[in-house]
Amino acid sequence: MNMTIADARKTVNSLLPLVSGNEVEVVLVPPFTALYAVHDIIRGTKVKLGAQDVFWEESGAYTGEISPPMLVDAGCSYVIVGHSERRGYFGETNISVNRKVAASLKNNLCPILCIGETLQEKEEGKTLDILENGLLEGLKDLKADQLREIVIAYEPIWAIGTGKTATPEQANESHLFIRGWMKNSFDRETSELIRIIYGGSVTSENIDRLMAQPEIDGALIGGASLKADSFVKIVNYRIRKE
Ligand code: PGA
Repeated sequence: MNMTIADARKTVNSLLPLVSGNEVEVVLVPPFTALYAVHDIIRGTKVKLGAQDVFWEESGAYTGEISPPMLVDAGCSYVIVGHSERRGYFGETNISVNRKVAASLKNNLCPILCIGETLQEKEEGKTLDILENGLLEGLKDLKADQLREIVIAYEPIWAIGTGKTATPEQANESHLFIRGWMKNSFDRETSELIRIIYGGSVTSENIDRLMAQPEIDGALIGGASLKADSFVKIVNYRIRKE
């Protein structure tokens, strides 16, 4: 819940020329109110648009909700589903998340499914159980070919907005578990094709070490995406190194 339309326009106008030539796939995920304005700016570039949430019905009497076709209409090709803030503050469960994932896929929106453990769950050694449950219930009834279209975001809840990042090795271990689960539950090809990204206090300082891990395919950036210059540094981490 950051940025007015004017803020979003200003931020995107300043970051766009600096990231659009990069081979990294960039998806901008502003609040609903700024979606169309951002779509207008990025039109014709390789940069893509996503939303922060979606409802599973296509239309009807669901006051206040936004459907997958509405997001497509606003220019989205991605949508974040099951972010821990949606789960924590708004009562979302793996069951509702599963309906959102299925509805998004049906409408050609690529869901970015967020899963991750709380600090307490981590300390109790339950991380892998939480991940397994999130995958089992969140991806229920989906087929392997549909799974290849989705992105999984491993987001340890204790690392979101806290300045505490999982160590690159810890993150890699969870990603490895997720990929292994995909292989066992579906097939090797799906597990290799699916993109697994990390989120939780990613900055321009730690992106290199995270991306150096073999199982980390990308990053979901929260706080550090609110300023064009820090976001640009993250996207261009490889170029900066050369
Ligand atoms: P953060 O947020 O990068 O500020 O930790 C990540 C997120 O909101 O998913």
